Amino acid sequence: MMTKRFYIETVGCQMNVLDSELVASGLLAQGYEQVERACDADILLFNTCSVRQHAEDKIYSALGRLKHAKRYNPLKIIGVLGCMAQKDGSLIFRRAPHVDLVVGPSRLGRLPELIEEVTAGASAVIAVSSNRQAKSHRKARESFAPFDPARRVEARSAAHQAMVRAAFGCDKFCSYCVVPSVRGPEQSRPIEQIEEEVRLLAGQALEREVALEVTLLGQAINSYRYRDGRQTFRLADLLHRLHDIEGLSRLKFVSNHPRHMTQDLVEAVRDLDKVAPHFHVPAQSGSDRILKRMRRGYTADEYRQMLRRIHETVPEAAVTSDFIVGFCGETEAEFLETVDLVRQSRFKNSFIFKYSPRPGTHAAEHYEDDVPEQEKRRRNNELLAVQNAISQQDNQPWVGRTVEILVEGPSKRWLKGDRSDLPRSGPKGASHKSDLSPLGSEVTQLVGRTVCDRIVVFEGTGELIGQIVPIEIEKASAFTLFGRIPSSQSK
Ligand code: 5AD
Ligand code: SF4
Repeated sequence: MMTKRFYIETVGCQMNVLDSELVASGLLAQGYEQVERACDADILLFNTCSVRQHAEDKIYSALGRLKHAKRYNPLKIIGVLGCMAQKDGSLIFRRAPHVDLVVGPSRLGRLPELIEEVTAGASAVIAVSSNRQAKSHRKARESFAPFDPARRVEARSAAHQAMVRAAFGCDKFCSYCVVPSVRGPEQSRPIEQIEEEVRLLAGQALEREVALEVTLLGQAINSYRYRDGRQTFRLADLLHRLHDIEGLSRLKFVSNHPRHMTQDLVEAVRDLDKVAPHFHVPAQSGSDRILKRMRRGYTADEYRQMLRRIHETVPEAAVTSDFIVGFCGETEAEFLETVDLVRQSRFKNSFIFKYSPRPGTHAAEHYEDDVPEQEKRRRNNELLAVQNAISQQDNQPWVGRTVEILVEGPSKRWLKGDRSDLPRSGPKGASHKSDLSPLGSEVTQLVGRTVCDRIVVFEGTGELIGQIVPIEIEKASAFTLFGRIPSSQSK
């Protein structure tokens, strides 16, 4: 019997969430059915992340647990997709011999055909790009050919929110980062292709009478550069080009590299109403020596100047950042320079990571991972406490103000209640975002976001999902604003 039901577990960044949507799209188009629980699936797919060791360890232990499932049901197909598939390749079959399929990020378009091969009896089927280091730039680009099939609305986590890829891969080669070798060379998508996709999504949103928020994705999206004949398009041009599309309500972009935060881009954010005044621009460290070792290409002061320029040009902008603590050789004094940068910059929030050596990267090959794990943990907690206090203070002035939010769905707390009757679709983790029309006019706790990504919880009816509504803020914690529909608006 032909295997037809698939389940995808996704870990990692938004790029992976998008890849999983596209994979699901491709399989649905071939007649496969997506299921919500691994135990109901004939095909189990893991879309993996390699950015830190911890993410890989979790996947390997999940694969280990499946050994018995495979013995019990040898017809089950187990596939490892994404960054870890590219990085570890056939090593995955050696560590987990019950895995049938290993597919790198640039080969995901071949997945339906590869599943057919396994169904027909092939084992240890592998499709990855060739080693980037060993190839010329042109060959590497060919080997990491982008995967971007047409969308099917069923596979999207929500009709009102969509991620659209603007650029693949990365050429920055920060010394700690595995991304350039697993995602391949930086390649910007043609501007007209992106426009066509956004028009398609906006048309679908108009048909469904919901607002549409599009997030443009790229590892360093502000280095977007597409050449068409003699014309070169940068991210600012792309934002201008998409801005007037009817049916598009909000436009976001992640992630940015500090060196490419050009003034024309900052001004585009200022001038275009639909573009979120939100810059996610990872600093990684506040110490010049560490930044140099990380090969980031800027000093802490240059980063500060860039921030100043953002705030001068777009005073209402929210800025968020990423930091790595315990990088090779980081002293306490250097860590304290990072703490200073966080204190002064007053980021809306920051993601803080403990350094994790990645095989094949410059840092892993040239520097010793000499900050003990316990010390990394302490620095992580300390920096997080500083950031959380800032986030909490930063949220307070919103109390008493009215903000416009895009309503995403029922709040997680409400979903955890006894609501097993709710329909669930789309990739795991995004189920609360799916169309929830059965909620109808029942009042529930809903969650939405301001244009700068502030989470707002309030009570309202299911009909509001996918709409942009004003909410009066009554209370604030470090991560959440709580409010209500203004009395003049409530029915
Ligand atoms: N160890 C820890 N954190 C890392 N990041 C990238 N590579 C590593 C690594 N080897 C973090 C960076 C990046 C974010 C997506 O992940 O902060 O901005
Ligand atoms: Fe990794 Fe640096 Fe590229 Fe970001 S810019 S993906 S940290 S190499």
